[in-house]
Amino acid sequence: MRGLGDVIPVPARVRPVPAAAFTIDPGTAVRAAPGTAAVAEHLAGALRAATGHRVPVDGDGAIRLVLEDGHGAEGYSLEVRPDAVIVAAQTPAGLFAAVQTVRQLLPVAGTGDAVLPGGRIEDRPRFAYRGVMLDLARHFFTPDEVRSFIDAIVPFKINHLHLHLTDDQGWRLEIAGWPRLTEVSGGPGTGVGGTGPGFLTAAEYAELVAYAADRFVTVVPEIDMPGHVNAAQVAYPELTRDGLAVPPRHDRAVGYSSLCVDKEETYAFVEDVIREVAALTPGPYLHIGGDEADATSAEDYRAFLHRVLPLVAKYGKRAVGWHEVAAAELPVVPQFWRTAADDAGVARAVAGGGQVIMSPADRTYLDMKYDADSPLGLDWAGLLDVARAYDWDPATRLPGVGERAVLGVEAPLWSETLGSLADVQTMTFPRLPAIAEVAWSPQAVRDWASFRRRLATFGPRWTAQGIAYHRSPEVPWA
Ligand code: ACM
Repeated sequence: MRGLGDVIPVPARVRPVPAAAFTIDPGTAVRAAPGTAAVAEHLAGALRAATGHRVPVDGDGAIRLVLEDGHGAEGYSLEVRPDAVIVAAQTPAGLFAAVQTVRQLLPVAGTGDAVLPGGRIEDRPRFAYRGVMLDLARHFFTPDEVRSFIDAIVPFKINHLHLHLTDDQGWRLEIAGWPRLTEVSGGPGTGVGGTGPGFLTAAEYAELVAYAADRFVTVVPEIDMPGHVNAAQVAYPELTRDGLAVPPRHDRAVGYSSLCVDKEETYAFVEDVIREVAALTPGPYLHIGGDEADATSAEDYRAFLHRVLPLVAKYGKRAVGWHEVAAAELPVVPQFWRTAADDAGVARAVAGGGQVIMSPADRTYLDMKYDADSPLGLDWAGLLDVARAYDWDPATRLPGVGERAVLGVEAPLWSETLGSLADVQTMTFPRLPAIAEVAWSPQAVRDWASFRRRLATFGPRWTAQGIAYHRSPEVPWA
């Protein structure tokens, strides 16, 4: 049996009472509080899978979900006694976080009674935003694959999925009024290496957003601009400077394309896209990219953002951008991604009261190779083993960017070298659990020796779930 605190991310406070274990037997049921039926079903489903028992959701179950104040937006407490399990939170999101803890304490699949270790957990996240990014532009992944990816990240209390939907090589979201974006640039032979047709229809995107929301994951859509737009310009030559067609690109180069900052056609296009994406996205954020705009002058870049950032607000969204966008000195959440020791733009944004998402490439980029022998991935930010993904503090990474300035942490996964869901999984696991613990758990309770021991127990779980993972030699796999 696991110990009560043997979960990832490690909870803020754990008080084991080994004599107080609770047994899930054929009579066990889950009791929902008003407004928590959906979360109760998630919990009952996990208990059924772990035991094969019926585990109904009914009025007098010994496993109780309780809504009460005092836990914060996503915090919870979990009390396990021989006669009852009490899961308490202020919100359904907090209860759902508790369900992830319970799931990790149970076998993934089993037949027969299972035991929950006794004691009490009190837990809440260090940072509100805990994200992963998936690049659908360089290689497309189908809605079923994205759903499977969501299922795999949810156990680690990840609550944002950033979808990189457009880039030089492909455009992966249908936009009303601009059909060639996906007909041409989501068609056959798009992506790195020219491998794939693929795009999300508006309906498929909305279904993915709803699937994520059912698991308390907010989708953050990214339309990258003013650079990384070759696929848009292939589909619509009027978006180029001279109005002439440009060839599709399947290589990995960056920094060569730009929207035309001084053409009004550009803003008609951008406004249509932002309006459409905002309408399809219930979450608060819309990511406008803004990285590596090397083909846009600094002056044009600022002018472009001064036109575009207000459009994001006009359609009711909070703009996020790769941290170069801090140059605009307008309200926007910068996502710090480089490996530099400091960043003046981010520090200035934070000094003005803003918050930043931390994704330093040398700690969080899941597309970096694990080691020199990794067959997949890139290495421009160095090699990123599990210890390196774990052993850093987001609140001390950038001068001038302390605890309160950090909205959260995100692990981006770029797909230039990743052609299958198994490739995606192999780069994500086991590093994502490390970054999830960085983002959720208090710095003071994190410990590498403890983490690698807890992590080792996930090998058989991932195998049982059909999730590929890298068997890093740093981890004492069971
Ligand atoms: C990036 O890696 N270009 C944000």
